[in-house]
Amino acid sequence: MSNTVIVGTQWGDEGKGHVIDLLARQASAVVRYQGGDNAGHTVIVEGEKFVFHLVPSGILYPDKKCIVGNGVVVDPESLLGELVSLKNRGISLTNFFLSNHAHVVMPYHKKAEEIEESLRGKSRIGTTKKGIGPAYVDKMGRRGIRIADLLEKNILEEKLKFNLTFWTKFCEVNYSISSVLSQYLEYGSKLKPYITDTSLLIYELAKRGENILFEGAQGTLLDVDHGTYPYVTSSSSGAGGVCIGTGIGPGKIDRVLGVAKAYTTRVGAGPFPTESFGETGNILRERGKEYGATTGRPRRCGWFDGVILKYAVRINGLNELIITKLDVLDKLEKIRICVAYRYKNKIIYDFPADLGILTECQPIYEEMEGWRTDTSSLRIFSDLPRAARKYLQRIEEIGEISICLFSVGPQREEMISMNQIPDSLT
Ligand code: GDP
Ligand code: IMO
Ligand code: MG
Repeated sequence: MSNTVIVGTQWGDEGKGHVIDLLARQASAVVRYQGGDNAGHTVIVEGEKFVFHLVPSGILYPDKKCIVGNGVVVDPESLLGELVSLKNRGISLTNFFLSNHAHVVMPYHKKAEEIEESLRGKSRIGTTKKGIGPAYVDKMGRRGIRIADLLEKNILEEKLKFNLTFWTKFCEVNYSISSVLSQYLEYGSKLKPYITDTSLLIYELAKRGENILFEGAQGTLLDVDHGTYPYVTSSSSGAGGVCIGTGIGPGKIDRVLGVAKAYTTRVGAGPFPTESFGETGNILRERGKEYGATTGRPRRCGWFDGVILKYAVRINGLNELIITKLDVLDKLEKIRICVAYRYKNKIIYDFPADLGILTECQPIYEEMEGWRTDTSSLRIFSDLPRAARKYLQRIEEIGEISICLFSVGPQREEMISMNQIPDSLT
């Protein structure tokens, strides 16, 4: 395969977990490079459903190394809960590794986020309330607590004292040092078997020519630099985040694959030009089961946005595209695809950098025939109804990118190669 990045091209929840689960078969390692347990990546294998928040989506393969890189922010309680639940389901954790340099989400981060969201009032971001933003704020503020610190009582105590003094000054947080200290030392001792220098581990794998998959969380439009700021997450969720968040050098990345739903969804606040408030939005939400894998919130839904696709191709340097959830469109008579925006009396083809402009953009749609056929049992591109093939080909034209895989259901075998005959026939 090669060293491949899997990145969301929209506002998250594109089906990255589904893609990773399939591609991990050919990889030696799956590495998370940013975000935290705000992510919810669903994998369904033989009818059994797993939702991964911090653990990489390759963990169902016992021989694949699953690595949480330095760029991830880790809530130890949440990670330990996830590990215990996987263990109870018979999943081996012997190949799970946690970076000593990953930053720790602390209780005051969650509290600070709650206070900030309520202060924002109507302009709140609609975060996942996992303390992700404030944890990254501490990282950049050079006072963050890292996973390795959980193993050193004196260092943890000193850092904790400073952090609690700091946060108490700015926020109404009130924690006892001794109870947080003992709680986090206990987390440290439980996580100790997994903690290592993951940058070195990844380097050794790459040096041996092993295939590594980098698993993006969130999506391009939630990237703190390139997304719809301030309605974004606090990390570099685009492909650019991989090197920073794992310690691998840019020259070692071979391929970047983007994942897009056959339509668009968003959770939380912020502009969404193709959002449908009417019947279409409801149909997509119900047929696509568009409820958050982490928070259970209903996702906002709308048509596929080609302007966003072109932007994601540009920002991530995508080599190829993967389209998920094509089956969700099966029953629609007409399908729309946004090819440009109208802003005042101008037509815009490039995603606007200015949020004020984006907010006022109206989508310009092309209307295509629906296929009104159940695609979920089909396994070869050429077997798809003509209208479905045309839809995928139109996406390729608009994005100026080839689709390598598409899916017609959430299970492993429902992810189909665009050009090849299925495995079962080879
Ligand atoms: P992620 O965060 O990008 O991994 O995506 P989520 O897991 O949050 O959301 C994707 C949802 O769509 C999950 O419930 C998947 O099981 C489901 N899913 C993935 N691919 C398909 C597909 O092709 N068809 C259908 N109907 N569901 C899919
Ligand atoms: P996966 O990896 C969809 C959204 C939140 C909110 C914004 C900021 O499953 O695709 P945060 O808690 O990160 O500070 O919230 O980002 N968000 C996601 N939306 N999928 C995700 O992850 C998300 N992670 C965060 O809803 O709008
Ligand atoms: Mg998700």
